[in-house]
Amino acid sequence: MMRKNLIAGNWKMYKTPKESVEFVKQLKDAVKVYNDREILVCPAFTSLFPVSEILKDTSVKFGAQNAYFEDEGAFTGEVSVKMLQDIGVNYVICGHSERRNIFMETDTDINKKIMKTIAAGIVAILCVGEKLEEREQGKTFDVIERQITKCLDNIEDIKNIVIAYEPVWAIGTGKNATQEQAKDVHRFIRGLIEKLYGKESAENIQILYGGSVKPENIDLLMGEEDIDGVLVGGASLKLDSFLRIIDYKNGG
Ligand code: 13P
Repeated sequence: MMRKNLIAGNWKMYKTPKESVEFVKQLKDAVKVYNDREILVCPAFTSLFPVSEILKDTSVKFGAQNAYFEDEGAFTGEVSVKMLQDIGVNYVICGHSERRNIFMETDTDINKKIMKTIAAGIVAILCVGEKLEEREQGKTFDVIERQITKCLDNIEDIKNIVIAYEPVWAIGTGKNATQEQAKDVHRFIRGLIEKLYGKESAENIQILYGGSVKPENIDLLMGEEDIDGVLVGGASLKLDSFLRIIDYKNGG
């Protein structure tokens, strides 16, 4: 199989620039060399530039948690893909459920952000996932299909796109999806990508799982063939737990 696994930390609104710098200095020194996995941290905007200076010539990649789709202008409070490109950002997370649910981002906004990101040669991590009531109503696959189809509208080439399946009910709750639940959705997503983009794209796309990933469940999750990595919130903020997640055994 061509695709590598990706272990990504989403730091959300945690860590000052000083704390971020301290963390990545220790991370880059402690992390082992791997051929089968990529490592990524996504700090807050204020930390991105100092983190970029430390990580630029290392194997650890850095990314942003969000970006705006205009290059510049009167958009108070926003940061553009162009600004991120200038400091060498490798990835941008697009459409995280907190962006969708707290900041009311729509699939159309996310679609524009993804287009802008991949046009800049940066990898877009498209986040999708159902809420608890949607799962309970049996709508999980419908929700995922709608989010993916709309967010990828008019995008022809998906080689710079990663999909992260993050069930909203599993985020920050300590209650991860079981290996079985994650496997079913990951298979569904790969099948959908095959339908939309063909077999080769489906085989190459990385599909990550996110939602209460921790040292205790990483090995089981990574044992699943269709899980190509994880997007980790809380457990990526501490060096020892993030290092243990990076060093998962049992890669599928
Ligand atoms: P937790 O790992 O804290 O559940 O967060 C998951 C997440 O939202 C990653 O983007």
